[in-house]
Amino acid sequence: MNILVLGGTRFLGRHLVSDALTRGYQVTLFNRGQSNPGLFPEVEKLRGDRAGDLGALKGRQWDAMIDTCGYVSREVRVTAALLAGSVEHYTFISSISVYAGFSHSGLDESAKLALLPHGTNEDAGDPATYGARKALCEESVEQIMPNRVLHIRPGLIIGPFDPTNRFNYWVRRVARGGEVLAPEHPDKPMQLIDARDLARWIITMIEAKQTGRFNATGPERPLTFGQMLDACKSASASDARFTWVDAQFLLNRGVAPFANLPLWLPESEKEYAGHFCIDSRRAFQSGLVCRPLVETVSDILLPDREHTPENTSVTSPPSGLTPGRERELLLAWMEKLK
Ligand SMILES: NC(=O)c1ccc[n+]([C@@H]2O[C@H](COP(=O)([O-])OP(=O)(O)OC[C@H]3O[C@@H](n4cnc5c(N)ncnc54)[C@H](OP(=O)(O)O)[C@@H]3O)[C@@H](O)[C@H]2O)c1
Repeated sequence: MNILVLGGTRFLGRHLVSDALTRGYQVTLFNRGQSNPGLFPEVEKLRGDRAGDLGALKGRQWDAMIDTCGYVSREVRVTAALLAGSVEHYTFISSISVYAGFSHSGLDESAKLALLPHGTNEDAGDPATYGARKALCEESVEQIMPNRVLHIRPGLIIGPFDPTNRFNYWVRRVARGGEVLAPEHPDKPMQLIDARDLARWIITMIEAKQTGRFNATGPERPLTFGQMLDACKSASASDARFTWVDAQFLLNRGVAPFANLPLWLPESEKEYAGHFCIDSRRAFQSGLVCRPLVETVSDILLPDREHTPENTSVTSPPSGLTPGRERELLLAWMEKLK
């Protein structure tokens, strides 16, 4: 099989490419050559920009393509229209953010989708419209290539080369050891998926020419925030102790959910109650397998991971608490408990 990957050099895309190459497939990358241009020296690289410079894609044929970098529907529509006669099967990497709301647990693929507010432009940099834009992208590509599209809707993706400091904040904080400030209580649900498990399953789905929409987050059995931190502790063999701090106490002191304490969505914010309770049964029934979380954490912690020249490990703005701020909050919490 020969596969065109639009993207392929940062995080999920890079694992997709690695998996496809491991299986002996021929891969062509199309991107701007800005992110890790030295990766995959053995692979054919087409340079261009999906925002307007698609010339390098003309006149070629591929069995399948994977689109990891579609965020604006007009761009996705143009790419799909150009490639509809050149590829048989299109995989669009979407997101669980396509759903209109997360107040309910167990959202499956039939849940209502987010809409772009009337009069809003599709601005690729606007996080507030990310989900609605992904939903529009799905719709655009499906219109152009009906019944030939596999729409993958991942939850939070983790693993080696994750450019964000979300899950990685917890991995590194717990590895540092000592008293760790943890939000609210340990029983809050959590869902995460290792990019390598996701990639392996997606390539298998492409082999089978599967189409349709699939939520993709894990693990298969419920996980809690506390179990996630325990996995971080056991993988790093640290002496971390977790102090679970009341939500209102944190909010009153200006701790911003998610930004200052990654992956924390306060229970009081009912509109997010189901965010980490997505139903991915379709994906598991079709072969998705998640490795133990402790294995993912161990791999993230591999000592040389951050020092390879082609690794852009943490590129998003810093998130999480600084050690000083965490200490200050913990002392104030202890004082309150006296
Ligand atoms: N991370 C998560 O937790 C999460 C959760 C749910 C869904 N998702 C979705 O998963 C996907 C994963 O993305 P990824 O960054 O890991 O994929 P990736 O394929 O590893 O990296 C992004 C690729 O897109 C290329 N690219 C960016 N802008 C481009 C443009 N205008 N024209 C051509 N190529 C362009 C980049 O190369 P150049 O910069 O060199 O062009 C890079 O190769 C995204 O669609 C995201 O919405 C992520």
